[in-house]
Amino acid sequence: MSEKWWKSAVIYQIYPRSFKDTNGDGIGDLKGITSKLDYIKELGVNAIWLSPIYKSPMKDFGYDISDYYEIDPIFGNMEDFDELLEQAHKRDLKVILDMVINHTSDQHPWFKESRSSRTNPKADWYIWVDGEKGTLPNNWCSYFGGSAWEWDENRKQYYLHLFAKEQPDLNWRNPEVKRELFNVVKFWLDKGVDGFRFDVVNLFFKDAKLRNNPPKKKKTEIDFENFYNVFTRDRPETLLVIEELQELIDSYGDRVTIGEVATDLGIIQYFEYTKPGRLNLAFNFEFKDVPKFSAKTFKEVVEFTEKIFEDAAWPSYVLGNHDSPRFISRFSDGVFEEERAKLLATMLLTLRGTPFIYMGEEIGMREGNIPFEKLQDPLGLNLWPKRKGRDGCRTPMQWDNSKYAGFSTVDPWLPVNPDKEFVNAEIQEKDPDSMLNFYKKLLALRKNSNALKLGDYISIRTNNSEVFAYLRVFNNKRILVILNFSAESVKVNLNLSEKNGFNIIFGTHKDSGVINSFIELEPFEAVLAE
Ligand code: GLC
Repeated sequence: MSEKWWKSAVIYQIYPRSFKDTNGDGIGDLKGITSKLDYIKELGVNAIWLSPIYKSPMKDFGYDISDYYEIDPIFGNMEDFDELLEQAHKRDLKVILDMVINHTSDQHPWFKESRSSRTNPKADWYIWVDGEKGTLPNNWCSYFGGSAWEWDENRKQYYLHLFAKEQPDLNWRNPEVKRELFNVVKFWLDKGVDGFRFDVVNLFFKDAKLRNNPPKKKKTEIDFENFYNVFTRDRPETLLVIEELQELIDSYGDRVTIGEVATDLGIIQYFEYTKPGRLNLAFNFEFKDVPKFSAKTFKEVVEFTEKIFEDAAWPSYVLGNHDSPRFISRFSDGVFEEERAKLLATMLLTLRGTPFIYMGEEIGMREGNIPFEKLQDPLGLNLWPKRKGRDGCRTPMQWDNSKYAGFSTVDPWLPVNPDKEFVNAEIQEKDPDSMLNFYKKLLALRKNSNALKLGDYISIRTNNSEVFAYLRVFNNKRILVILNFSAESVKVNLNLSEKNGFNIIFGTHKDSGVINSFIELEPFEAVLAE
């Protein structure tokens, strides 16, 4: 039986605004993505996931949709999309769209109609509640700061927005809303897209009784972090609708569904959303939040994931995305920046589970330093300086060393990182030791190895707590992965039972040799052997 393609795929996330601008407005576009498909193919990934490209007032840069059936003119038009899809498929690259159906833009015709009166046909398409101006219906908070309720002068009622006030939450309890959103999904499936990444998929339903979220401590000031947000997410109705959605998508054949589960419950909750009949994958965000760079912290995430998912659902792993600081910067100790990043990339691409690469990680793009005057992200604008927002990981992709890094011919919407001189795709293509060529080699190795793509994960005990080692096993193939998380040279005893040892096939420092029962490793060295 052939396995599903998405189990052995590596998925590359593109933030279209920042990938490649071809029409000289300082903002990336679809033609730009199409022009870089060869680059993506040569990198060695199997699928691209595009952050939203639909028509949008861009209050949250596309995560506020005003027309699900149109491409935003900033990115191009439907012809450009069809061309992108065709060109990607020609190269055997799958295309996954972001599907944002928890909320729309306040400029969506549905919301405009809904807010026009209390009695119009779409009056109940969003979450409206009675109340008095100035007295909030309950303590629910927005992820972007402050209350999730906004007073509407026209209806003299509150509406709910778990993000910006320009992103009203849809009322999934209304069957017409559900039908319309399923139609949106069908439209893009009929077009031939290979799947969806469902935005905040665990928020679709909110508590019907509007119960207050319990405060974490005494503090009850309206701030997301002060509450257990149990009544605004993971409601049981959500899982039922996900099962229906999955059934619809399964009826189209070999597509993929990926859920962004916004939770602080971690791995158990990712599993909940990917049990049989539910989504195919849910992002495992735990690497983003490890408290410390150490073998122990990363290993704990992996071993717990293995234990929970077992063979009941397929795991995934993520180091970064468009919502979180660049991982190379986050895990840098100021000295071994690239070494640490290569170590983590080796781990990401050799674990059992579908890995996600966020554009630019393959060239080692750092977190941008965005001054307040240049901030774009609504989250940063609302919560500065407590939270700086997400602009730092959205700076333009660095293609070359020209003034705007080959991203655009004009000053881009976010400043180009000053390190473009050495962090750029062009220069790295020519350097055999670059981050880019490192990713390419590793991805090529993975592509040709069933052990790495589908093999079992077996943990290995070593005599050094700063070393994380494991086997990937498929039939009689065994691949050994050894990762030194310390800044020291170490001699590791692997307690292997193999008589003939393992041959080294890849590594950050050496790529040949034989490993018997022990190996010496340089600081932050990663080794693969078979
Ligand atoms: C998700 C997206 C994020 C967006 C939010 C609201 O978390 O990843 O970028 O702001 O949903 O749609």
